[in-house]
Amino acid sequence: TLLRALRHLGIGTNAVVHVAQLEDGTIDVAALEAELARDPNHLTIVSLAAGDLNRGAFDSFDACCEIAHKYGAWVHVDGAFGLWASASPRFEHLTKGIERADSWATDAHKWLNVPYDSGLVFVADKEAHRGAMSIPAAYAVDVEGVRDQFEWGPEWSRRARGFPVYAALRSLGRRGMAELVENSCDLAKSLVEQLGELPEVEVLSAPVINQGLVRFLDAGGDHDTFTERIINAINATGEGWFGPTTWRGMRVMRISVCNYRTTQADIDRVVAAFRAALREHSSG
Ligand SMILES: Cc1ncc(COP(=O)(O)O)c(C=O)c1O
Repeated sequence: TLLRALRHLGIGTNAVVHVAQLEDGTIDVAALEAELARDPNHLTIVSLAAGDLNRGAFDSFDACCEIAHKYGAWVHVDGAFGLWASASPRFEHLTKGIERADSWATDAHKWLNVPYDSGLVFVADKEAHRGAMSIPAAYAVDVEGVRDQFEWGPEWSRRARGFPVYAALRSLGRRGMAELVENSCDLAKSLVEQLGELPEVEVLSAPVINQGLVRFLDAGGDHDTFTERIINAINATGEGWFGPTTWRGMRVMRISVCNYRTTQADIDRVVAAFRAALREHSSG
């Protein structure tokens, strides 16, 4: 999505520099500094992740913001999932330092479980935000003291997306949001741990929050094909839905638990379905 945003903005994807990552999937802070130091006067946006797509990794926000700001860069945090973790006393340490970033993006249609396209953006510099979005129009009626939404987002007309977001946040409250986050994380951990006990399963990434990565080992050695086969078999049962991805050159299965209605019983049921699928499809 970051690449698409850059295309839409006209910045283009050729302007992107990928900074090296550490083994845990977070940005290598020394590599970030080396990259910024190569051309200190270049206008740069440093994009960090709070809960990356595959592993749920959180970058070192304090250190990255310190360095990026030293070189005059704008720091953006993609927290589509991860920003919600800051609602939980158990997980908020992961987001330490995000308050130093210049902008955040998150999705209410992910962990808050409201309908699609409820994206949220937060910009620390109010005037920069408004300056980028607002445009004078002779026919726009200025009502004193009323915030005009078209001055803060790319659309002039839109449905009332804020309503379900507000209703969900009001009904959950801070504690309800924390419980939603913690429940999903505990269930993701349980699912990965239970799968990890099966001989045909290799756990590649245990959950940092609510995501994990596993693959299925084939007795004949073709783990990629076997992993695809097991994912398709599980999805066909309807007991759960899991997506495949390629990670470090391997076909792997993504695990993400985010529905507020998911229970331990659901997790145990889906583990039973995996056991059955592995029994049926294993050649060993
Ligand atoms: C970290 C992260 N960023 C961005 C996105 C894209 O979100 P959307 O499809 O709502 O634009 C996702 C979707 O899974 C994500 O996990």
